[in-house]
Amino acid sequence: MKRFAMKDYGEAKDVLIEIEAEPRPVDDTHVRVELTAFAINPYDVALRQGAMRDFRTLKFPYVLGNDGAGVVTEVGKEVSHVKVGDEVIVHAVGGTYGEEVVVPGKKIVKKPASMSWEAAAGAVTPWLTTYNLVTHLLGDTIGDTVMVQGASGAVGSLLVQYLKEQGKTVLASASKRNETLVRQLGADQFVAYDEVDAGEAFADQADTVIDATKGGRAGEAGMQIMKAGGNFVALNNLPSEQKKAGNYFSFGPSKDYSDFEALTALTELADKIQLTIAEVLPFELRSVVEGHELLEGHPSAGKIIIKKAD
Ligand SMILES: NC(=O)c1ccc[n+]([C@@H]2O[C@H](COP(=O)([O-])OP(=O)(O)OC[C@H]3O[C@@H](n4cnc5c(N)ncnc54)[C@H](OP(=O)(O)O)[C@@H]3O)[C@@H](O)[C@H]2O)c1
Repeated sequence: MKRFAMKDYGEAKDVLIEIEAEPRPVDDTHVRVELTAFAINPYDVALRQGAMRDFRTLKFPYVLGNDGAGVVTEVGKEVSHVKVGDEVIVHAVGGTYGEEVVVPGKKIVKKPASMSWEAAAGAVTPWLTTYNLVTHLLGDTIGDTVMVQGASGAVGSLLVQYLKEQGKTVLASASKRNETLVRQLGADQFVAYDEVDAGEAFADQADTVIDATKGGRAGEAGMQIMKAGGNFVALNNLPSEQKKAGNYFSFGPSKDYSDFEALTALTELADKIQLTIAEVLPFELRSVVEGHELLEGHPSAGKIIIKKAD
């Protein structure tokens, strides 16, 4: 079984390799999925670069990948919501960079027929983040006006759409080149952070600010945009100096969140929510290297997906 692994920390072209792996056994609670597509996330790039090595120890060769979609080929006795042949969406702790993955049954849901393989694989982590942040971290405290920084990104674009589904007023920032995209997703107001100071443009207007960028200076603007006493949520680092009174949260995955619940919500909204796909690359090692290299720069909006030929 072909898988794409990292043999060490380092540059994509130096450490990503193709390996032939033995299939893992499937116990009563697990499911085997033959993957049709998997997504590359910024988190994979950070893991490969070694940025997480103080918190998470990897044993090499390590197969990256949390997000995928494919067809069920084996089902444990205690799993009843899917059967062999079903098309499914998969969230794994690791290992979706390859031809198959074995995951707990509670981490897969059936893929709606109307959802493309690319959208199914690409939406997993961005959607789990969006859903858990809005529904569980903030819940009723979110308020009526929400600012999304990084609204053109995978997480940001789903946040804009999910918040609009819930009737919120959404303020958004991204680069000028992505203004049309973000407005089309439903943002009520948009500021291009590379032309205008978003902090000044939207000062004191949002009940909740979500920094869905890759970090950098967005935090300063975000604090300016948050109403005093509001919520500020960061997907990466919180601002080092919290200059305004408010509730500051650093969002991260939690055992308290149910993948099954969140992914089921995704399937229910599948026809209403769109995911931008930047690249669909062939199921080969050079595609995985290319995907990682693209994410290291400032790529076009949208997910990078590796997909088997039809
Ligand atoms: N904590 C968690 O559980 C969790 C979960 C998922 C993701 N993340 C992290 O969250 C970040 C976003 O993930 P993603 O998959 O959505 O990445 P992505 O698709 O690459 O999106 C990044 C976004 O940041 C925007 N951006 C960059 N600099 C900005 C600035 N100064 N002001 C406003 N926007 C700016 C980009 O906009 P333009 O391209 O338009 O410039 C783009 O919208 C990544 O660092 C990822 O690792 C964390």
